[in-house]
Amino acid sequence: MTKRVNRKCTLVRRPQGRPRSADFAIVEAPVEAPPEGCALIAVEHLSIDPFIRAALNPGSAHPPVALGEVLPALGVGRVVESNCDGLRVGDPVCGTFMAQTCATLPPMAVEVVDDSRVPLRTYLGALGSTAGLTAYFGILEVGGVSEGDVVLMSAAAGAVGSIAGQIAKLAGARVIGIAGGPEKARFVCDELGFDACIDYKHEDVAARIAELAPAGVDVFFDNVGGPILDAALDNIANEGRVVLCGAMTQYDHMERVEGPSLYLRLAERHARMEGFTVLHFHARYEEGRRQLAEWLTNGALAVREHVDEGIENLPRALLRLFDGSHIGKLLLKVG
Ligand SMILES: NC(=O)c1ccc[n+]([C@@H]2O[C@H](COP(=O)([O-])OP(=O)(O)OC[C@H]3O[C@@H](n4cnc5c(N)ncnc54)[C@H](OP(=O)(O)O)[C@@H]3O)[C@@H](O)[C@H]2O)c1
Repeated sequence: MTKRVNRKCTLVRRPQGRPRSADFAIVEAPVEAPPEGCALIAVEHLSIDPFIRAALNPGSAHPPVALGEVLPALGVGRVVESNCDGLRVGDPVCGTFMAQTCATLPPMAVEVVDDSRVPLRTYLGALGSTAGLTAYFGILEVGGVSEGDVVLMSAAAGAVGSIAGQIAKLAGARVIGIAGGPEKARFVCDELGFDACIDYKHEDVAARIAELAPAGVDVFFDNVGGPILDAALDNIANEGRVVLCGAMTQYDHMERVEGPSLYLRLAERHARMEGFTVLHFHARYEEGRRQLAEWLTNGALAVREHVDEGIENLPRALLRLFDGSHIGKLLLKVG
């Protein structure tokens, strides 16, 4: 029998600004049989998430990847060899499998999931912690969105934004997206059902928010930070809320993060800004997944995935998060 080979993506150089292919290497190693207490997982898909970029340099909440080490990544796959109780050959699983094609892990680091009604990769997208669950808890718990709210969503065509905006619509809000380019703006309105979408690459964002939300924005769900955050703060409603989910504009220079200049609008309008990490809601993932799965299967939630292929294309996929050349949840098929 031919021996399995593990292919992994490692960091060879800390990126200066936007990462480049030369910052990474693809390394191959033969796969050994799992030691006692572990199982061998053939990884099928990896989730391409902004935290991977943040972890390449010191300065984020994510421990920085050491030079020569494998990049962090969430994945889904199947158990192909087991030397432990709790994981059986064929089990569909998800977890932090890292940026590699094979993972050897103990059961406590692996979650067995049910892929009988949805494709396994859905556990990285609509049912995944960094997409669907982030959107779910961010909108309903942190944002407290309810009937009649005006919700503004940055990176509206992306993994989190596309789902978060739809959940806000399901909660009875009027939802305005912000996305880069006419194709994404059309996707946001026509396929996701948002009420409007601002194309920030071609329109004056602050002026358009004022036009679309003349009484102000009740909840701004922010994925990008930078000038868009300032434009939203300028239009925040009295007693409005800003949900700080992420800041795509900052991850290339975490050593000098640029904060908003219009933060005094929070004081002037008795508004508040609250950040969160989805891990905070870990104990409630099952509840979130149950609701998201119901919306998915009854057609209330539209999902789009962009799937790149091959572990060697991980650096290119990571860059898509910053050049915006994907729509929906970004995945990498590696098995
Ligand atoms: N708090 C949490 O626990 C948690 C968990 C997961 C993710 N997040 C955060 O959620 C955000 C979205 O993550 P995701 O995985 O869903 O990514 P995504 O939205 O699928 O991709 C990122 C998008 O950001 C936009 N973008 C990139 N650079 C930009 C810039 N300079 N100005 C404006 N927009 C820019 C691009 O869309 P356009 O083409 O429209 O520019 C791009 O498609 C990130 O900030 C991430 O860190 C937070």
